[in-house]
Amino acid sequence: MRQPPLTSTASFQALAQHADTAKTWQMRDLFAADPDRFERYSDEAAGLFLDYSKNRLDGRTLELLVQLARERGLEARRDAMFAGEKINNTENRAVLHTALRAPRGATLVVDGQEVNADIHAVLDRVKTFTDAVRSGEWLGHTGKPITDIVNIGIGGSDLGPKMVVLALRHYAHPRLRMHFVSNVDGHDMDAALAQVDPETTLFIVASKTFTTAETMMNAQTARAWFLQHAPEDALARHFVAVSTNTEAIKTFGIDPANMFPFWDWVGGRYSVWSAIGLPVALAVGFGYFKDFLAGAHELDEHFRTAPLEQNLPTLLALIGFWNRQFLDCASVSIAPYHQDLNRFPAYLQQLDMESNGKRVTRDGQPVDTPTCPAIWGECGTNGQHAYFQLLHQGTDVTPMDFIAALRPAHEMDNHHTALLANCFAQSEAFMKGKTAIEVRADLQAQGLAAEEIERLTPHKTFPGNRPSNTILMERLTPSTLGALIALYEHKTFVQGVIWDVNSFDQWGVELGKVLAKKIEAELAGEPAPGQHDSSTNGLIARAKAAF
Ligand code: F6P
Repeated sequence: MRQPPLTSTASFQALAQHADTAKTWQMRDLFAADPDRFERYSDEAAGLFLDYSKNRLDGRTLELLVQLARERGLEARRDAMFAGEKINNTENRAVLHTALRAPRGATLVVDGQEVNADIHAVLDRVKTFTDAVRSGEWLGHTGKPITDIVNIGIGGSDLGPKMVVLALRHYAHPRLRMHFVSNVDGHDMDAALAQVDPETTLFIVASKTFTTAETMMNAQTARAWFLQHAPEDALARHFVAVSTNTEAIKTFGIDPANMFPFWDWVGGRYSVWSAIGLPVALAVGFGYFKDFLAGAHELDEHFRTAPLEQNLPTLLALIGFWNRQFLDCASVSIAPYHQDLNRFPAYLQQLDMESNGKRVTRDGQPVDTPTCPAIWGECGTNGQHAYFQLLHQGTDVTPMDFIAALRPAHEMDNHHTALLANCFAQSEAFMKGKTAIEVRADLQAQGLAAEEIERLTPHKTFPGNRPSNTILMERLTPSTLGALIALYEHKTFVQGVIWDVNSFDQWGVELGKVLAKKIEAELAGEPAPGQHDSSTNGLIARAKAAF
């Protein structure tokens, strides 16, 4: 059913009216007026605790936001996704990353095919293979165990496994060193190959389509490098593939017995739960990989069954929408206060921006509001000493998501205390700010002259009233990490429903790919048709002159 334009809905209009007042609120006052604000605006599920009290909202705001979600048909759309309906309407595909983490025996039929059995058959193969590599039973062609694994993939075939392997490094096998090559820039492959030995290296070529130009070029380079050191029949001990495209894998020369399949209903940026997670299972072992899936499944169940008012991904999404739409926040900054989540902001960039960076609805009509904000970030405390200045005193308001584990995976307790203190201090500072009156009082206490106080006060004043969420978990484990990723996946889904965009296609990346092919041929010496603009022609000419 075609959705009416978002701005025409009754709940959107009620929210717009409500926002006129809400814009004048100071969070300091909201906290002062309600001693229970933290309890009221926090909740937990699947090992994750969400504090959303430091946002410019009240009970009425949430009520209207939930009303909007209902008016946009969130519950029906959510159920359609879980049921395997083809909600990716521009590619005519189901969207079933949730099925990848459902326990064995769950039933789900897509296009007449029972998918749970297929999923678990592949998981069984992942277990057999990863057990063999980890135990040292799987040998390289000269009889040595594997020591290095190079995952060759890009986008979803890189960001997910790379982020998770780093996040779970405390669970990793001590013998296996993990490398990730994604960029077509030869410096990436060059750096990886410089660290590995062809006798003991396993290459995983990971590509849903097995046509992605960067991955294909990197895979060919790795293959050629390997064959400089080993005979052709050694390839089977050193190259495996993860893909949906069996024919292309055969053509590349990888034994189909070494292929781990997945399905077109798994979007690239939602694929770490499939065999694309092979590097994760190799690094941490199949048992922990299953815990990772189970953590995500627990969050799925929460998303599927919890009332919208207590539904963590829904709340995150609605608050994000509120900030974007009514408080004019054009970007969101992600601050994991956990060094092992270093790649999490980059992972979320693809998840969120490739999903909801859209400007037309599922029916091809222009979306009549702004859509996905830019997502960016860096681990705390490092970000504090780089760009937090802008977050505190810049002219734009950027909502923050703080993410932290209450217990570390190390024994340096003083470090962890300092880390958490910084995390909580930042959200407090963003919320409260520091008024001119407070600044003047401080400067007076320091004994500064009146004139100096007036000169410095504007520079030392913090507007505050800057929204943030804080997500806490007991520890960063395979299970809580699984839940955390699923939380953001479903948040992305809910926002897509509100904007009525298809969150599961990515046509916007195609144009650049086509043009790059053309220019690559020109750089390689084919006659330039001269059809570019003068800037592009000039850049091509300069590059050719340098070759
Ligand atoms: O071009 C974008 C994209 O299709 C992403 O959506 C995807 O994750 C990435 O490229 C890699 O695709 P593949 O796994 O097919 O190589």
